[in-house]
Amino acid sequence: MDPKRFHDLDTPERILLGPGPSEMPARVLQAMAMPVIGHLDPAFLQIMDDVQELLRFVFQTKNRLTIPVSGTGSAGMEAALSNLIEPGDRVLIGIIGYFGERMFNMAGRYGATVDRIDAPWGQVLDVDAVKKQLAQHKYKLLAVVHGETSSGAQQPHIKELAAAAHEAGALFVLDTVASLGGVPVEVDKWDVDAAFSGSQKAISASPGLAPLTFGPRAEKALADRKVGVGNWYLSLDEVHKYWGKERTYHHTAPIQLNYAMREALRIVAEEGLETRFARHQQNAEDLWKGVEDLDMEMLVAREHRLPTVTAVKVPPTASHDHVKNHLLADYGIEVGAGLGPLKGQIWRIGLMGHSSRREYVTLVLAAIREILEKAK
Ligand SMILES: Cc1ncc(COP(=O)(O)O)c(C=O)c1O
Repeated sequence: MDPKRFHDLDTPERILLGPGPSEMPARVLQAMAMPVIGHLDPAFLQIMDDVQELLRFVFQTKNRLTIPVSGTGSAGMEAALSNLIEPGDRVLIGIIGYFGERMFNMAGRYGATVDRIDAPWGQVLDVDAVKKQLAQHKYKLLAVVHGETSSGAQQPHIKELAAAAHEAGALFVLDTVASLGGVPVEVDKWDVDAAFSGSQKAISASPGLAPLTFGPRAEKALADRKVGVGNWYLSLDEVHKYWGKERTYHHTAPIQLNYAMREALRIVAEEGLETRFARHQQNAEDLWKGVEDLDMEMLVAREHRLPTVTAVKVPPTASHDHVKNHLLADYGIEVGAGLGPLKGQIWRIGLMGHSSRREYVTLVLAAIREILEKAK
């Protein structure tokens, strides 16, 4: 092997306005450059405590079991579902896009009968329809996506959905991967039993950790399990021996990712949740107005739009790939493509965490305008 074949790492400069990852503040990058220490070093145990406390703050919960799962957002999803589902259970998944489909797929791997309730991509679930479905069978849980990154829709009425699940004797699980840190997620107030997220979106830490919180009902369901969790790595009774009081080895925590998470959450706390949500909302509204000024439309009705990810319909006169490719090549701007049934039909513009900036809104709109004009 000739090591000269591999040149020095020289990553391109990008402006990250896709559906994740978002940009990381310099302070977070600096935190990642701190020396690695052992995963049971007393100094790291303190960092773990800090991360858990900061996660409770951002999830707005007092839940004891609140940790960053080692793995991306999908690991958080897998942890929530695999720990709560037992073989023979029946579960209901609300599907408004790609990530609801992913939960549906995942839940079926743990021996449950999985039912689905759908809304077309770009729309949201109707609470009454969910209630009706919950009355059809004895469900172990209802899981829904709060911010559906694939369509840019935000599921409203989370409190009502949680209450409907509880009335039917089911747990309520919420995917907050695209919402946590960017829009209000009030785990305790909404009475959400289990929620998970990702580090790389509105929190603006490095990809690789999945914030997760389990409330008292979810903890009880875990304790009452008749059979062990169907995977070892994410089995929370084991994982929590490391994150909880015992502090025994489970796996080697990704040290630098936890430094990044701690610093990113410290920045969230310094900004304040309300100020941060208002910034995301304002920048999104400015983007929406700019898109309309360019005579383009958004996929999602205004009242259901997710401030962190906006789906812009590709106008009939424009080419999806041309605009997306030129944004990257000529302006260094990354935006997302449409997934599944929306492939080629939308661009997804993310304004998340450190990437949710007024100057970026102005820049991306001007860049799209220039590209469209040149293509005429
Ligand atoms: C809503 C939602 N859920 C789950 C995931 C999966 O997260 P990850 O790609 O970090 O595994 C994503 C990622 O985009 C997402 O947007």
